Amino acid sequence: MPPTPPYILAIESSCDETAVALVDAAGRVAVNAVASQAELHARYGGVVPEVASRRHLEAILPLLDEAMAAAEAGWDDVRALAVTRAPGLIGCLLIGVETAKALAWARGKPLIAVHHLRAHLHAPFLVPEKPALRHLLAEGGAERAALPPAAGEGWAAEGTLLAVPDFPHAGLIVSGGHTSLAIVEAPGRCRTIATTRDDAAGEAYDKVARILGAGFPGGPVIDRLAAQGDPSIHPFTAPMRRRGEHDFSFSGLKSAVARKVEAIREANGGAPPGGKEMNDLCASFQKAVIDSLLEKSLDAAREHGAADLVVAGGVAANRGLRRAALAASASSGVRIWFPNMSLCGDNAAMIAGLAWHLPELDPAEALELNPVASAPLD
Ligand code: KG4
Ligand code: ZN
Repeated sequence: MPPTPPYILAIESSCDETAVALVDAAGRVAVNAVASQAELHARYGGVVPEVASRRHLEAILPLLDEAMAAAEAGWDDVRALAVTRAPGLIGCLLIGVETAKALAWARGKPLIAVHHLRAHLHAPFLVPEKPALRHLLAEGGAERAALPPAAGEGWAAEGTLLAVPDFPHAGLIVSGGHTSLAIVEAPGRCRTIATTRDDAAGEAYDKVARILGAGFPGGPVIDRLAAQGDPSIHPFTAPMRRRGEHDFSFSGLKSAVARKVEAIREANGGAPPGGKEMNDLCASFQKAVIDSLLEKSLDAAREHGAADLVVAGGVAANRGLRRAALAASASSGVRIWFPNMSLCGDNAAMIAGLAWHLPELDPAEALELNPVASAPLD
């Protein structure tokens, strides 16, 4: 009997990151390779779908070779292929789906289709490649390093808690394209309880950064400037802050920032905000976003009797949000989980990790698989 092939090989190409990863049945990430296109799109101030698809096409096969080589894996070590099927930019998804279909057919491997947003929420269940890449758990006002028990004895660095969120838990997805709050009943099984009525949280960061002339993607830049600013200078109201109102909204906040920028420009004789003004605007905007995200998520967790909240997606990398979660975990008693930074933005490790919990398509179905641009989380 040959040894059981240990890996699921996953491909992710839903937006502007081409990614390939190999993950074993215990959720251990062997390789998490990401080729980001952020620089390519920066000059346009946003992701240009056609440019993104073309770059995926160029990047995917070399990245695949690189990932296999880095894991010292051959095709005999691959039990199945997994691919992001939905949601995302259709031309981008198509590159990943067609590549995965061709490889599955050519190598005689099963194929598993994965929902990108459900995979984001699975990130804290993965064991990253290096012991140093631990997840962050905010519990009782204190910060803890956490890994799933699959990390094993002696692997985890000292002081690391070997634990995962309990099911059901509340899950908040905050990315460039989506902001959704759900109850996660099992891996990949979600019940949506709120979404955004207009912009996604990451989209709001990107648009506000554009208004401020701060660059793209906006999240990391605003996060950095906000750390040096005073959030009390512009007390923007956290959007949709009414009791019992779970939905999010960020476009009003974005307009409030735009109005403030205009007022500062007028007062400065036409000069745009700079230095301290810029930092204070970023800090004030970020505080309103964070207050809204945390308040609503913790209300939902409480209402559904969930002891855990997972925050995932690109915006989960936000340092201000992670810091604010510490205080919120103390006052609410809810444990708040953030994936390691390497697993917050788009990656294929989360796709492979969730794929271990999903059914394989039968070979005929696999050949017919098509990407889907928008698909509900449920
Ligand atoms: O999950 P992701 O990589 O891609 C999507 O599926 O959309 O999220 C990308 C988004 C971008 O809008 C980016 O500005 C935001 O995540 N982002 C951040 C931070 N890092 C990335 N937002 C706030 N703070 C950050 N540190
Ligand atoms: Zn994403």
